[in-house]
Amino acid sequence: MQNFENFLLNHLPTSKSIHPTYEKALQKMLVAGGKRFRPALLLSVVNAYNPLLVGGAYFAAYAVELLHTYSLIHDDLPAMDNSPLRRGEPTLHVAFDEVTAILVGDALNTYSFEVLCNAPFSDATRVALIRELALNGGLNGMVLGQAIDCYFENKPLGINDVKVLHINKTAKLIAASLKMGVIIIGDEKLGERLYEFGIKLGLLFQIQDDILDVTQSSEMAGKLTNNDEAKNSFVTLLGLGGAMNEANELAQEVTEELESFDAKLKDELSPLLTHYINRHR
Ligand code: IPE
Ligand code: IPE
Ligand code: MG
Ligand code: MG
Ligand code: MG
Repeated sequence: MQNFENFLLNHLPTSKSIHPTYEKALQKMLVAGGKRFRPALLLSVVNAYNPLLVGGAYFAAYAVELLHTYSLIHDDLPAMDNSPLRRGEPTLHVAFDEVTAILVGDALNTYSFEVLCNAPFSDATRVALIRELALNGGLNGMVLGQAIDCYFENKPLGINDVKVLHINKTAKLIAASLKMGVIIIGDEKLGERLYEFGIKLGLLFQIQDDILDVTQSSEMAGKLTNNDEAKNSFVTLLGLGGAMNEANELAQEVTEELESFDAKLKDELSPLLTHYINRHR
């Protein structure tokens, strides 16, 4: 992933103007790091089937990371989760102000699509990538999930509705990361299969995130933890034990499905996913 980090540093959003802090704010959360899970998924798929396309795939991997980073910046705003810490750094509304955090989120959202437009692929591939990111990161994907998440604070939902919430706010972007890798290598059937796998993996990822909210300190997580009391999280719904059981079951399913992939894909994804599948333990 070192090459991805270099790509990111070489393609940071820039803006020269009379604004004294705007450019620094645009870059702050991107350079702060993060696990880069979504880019790693996308690049693994491309690397498994056509390593020659990995250079171009960095554009798509970076686009997903940009959109994800925008979602985190807005997620931390006082009107949403009101968090002062992200990726081990003060959040943008703390380091600068709320206006800056809102606008930087807006800028990274649109910049992600600009980056996709510059990807060195055919027009058809570029449009398919843009579409996939918009469908999953936008109005009926991540944004819908965040709307439900915030609207239903202190209004307990049933387990099926919480799954819908988690699938939208988190799983769809994770599924899209895998699918975008498939779009680049061009294999429609595999795309559908990996998308469904990604939804399961993403649901597991968010259940684990709910668990880590109560099991990790803010220092360990690099973000404010114990912050989900009002939320429809798996822990508030089922308790820590119940959430662990749910995560274990899903981890088992995801592992079995991973085993069923062809050798190229399994070899590429296993080292990455073994860590993430067991993140809650
Ligand atoms: C945090 O995502 C928000 C969720 C969807 C749970 P990550 O846990 O991937 O955050 P970073 O990118 O590593 O900071
Ligand atoms: C956020 O979920 C999902 C996003 C779309 C950003 P959380 O609110 O649980 O993420 P964290 O715990 O703040 O990273
Ligand atoms: Mg949130
Ligand atoms: Mg949050
Ligand atoms: Mg969380």
